[in-house]
Amino acid sequence: MSTAILSALTEEQSSLVEHLAHPQRVMHAGRAFWRGELNDRRVVLALSGIGKVAAATTATALIEHFGVARIVFTGVAGGVGDGVNVGDVVVAQDYIQHDMDASPLFPRWELPGYARSRLSCDPALTALLLEAAKACVAGGSSQFGLKKSPDQVPHRVHHGLVASGDRFVSTAAESIQLRAALRSAGHDVLAVEMEGAAVAQVCQDYGLPFAAVRTISDRADDTAHGDFALFVQTVASRYAEHMVQTLLQK
Ligand code: ADE
Repeated sequence: MSTAILSALTEEQSSLVEHLAHPQRVMHAGRAFWRGELNDRRVVLALSGIGKVAAATTATALIEHFGVARIVFTGVAGGVGDGVNVGDVVVAQDYIQHDMDASPLFPRWELPGYARSRLSCDPALTALLLEAAKACVAGGSSQFGLKKSPDQVPHRVHHGLVASGDRFVSTAAESIQLRAALRSAGHDVLAVEMEGAAVAQVCQDYGLPFAAVRTISDRADDTAHGDFALFVQTVASRYAEHMVQTLLQK
């Protein structure tokens, strides 16, 4: 039984590849996949590229071609919830597509054919991932190249709703508007990214366990672009690698 570790960008994946035992690179569907072992567990490392369709293609290939038994997404996200700061970690409880809008045929955000707006992550796998994230953050985030926040607040692990959409949210105005609109319908979003909800939907369709962890690279505001670029270059993959290794020990 192998576990797929899926990321959007090479910068989010590179430390995992460096630590892979018996690495074997396989090209499939125009993407590079890595078979190997981490912590003596069989894994397939995959890169989706950015966006929901790219993520759905990659998740489907992992299931249909590589026969993985579960999928863990690891990467970065923009923090939109109160107190969800750069360097914090969000473990997804469930996912919504913030750009899904088939109204007036279906209520805003409802997934046509699924009769709901939110898809849950697998509770058991998510509980393990949450434990792993907490252990890593408690071990001190400076080991991943992170500076303490200016107000010296320690980095935190959050657990809750994450929203995906095919937009890089890069103004405070958009982030505030997006959060408020979802909130008015009872969806309190912690973070935004561009892939997770698509993978959650594919895993739901195939009946496969799915969990996701996202380190906060930016606040989805007017400085998001620069903050994101710096974070993915310096911190993202070391953080991801540590959390995945800890998860695979469980
Ligand atoms: N991933 C990381 N930061 C993001 C942002 N601001 N918007 C969408 N996806 C992101």
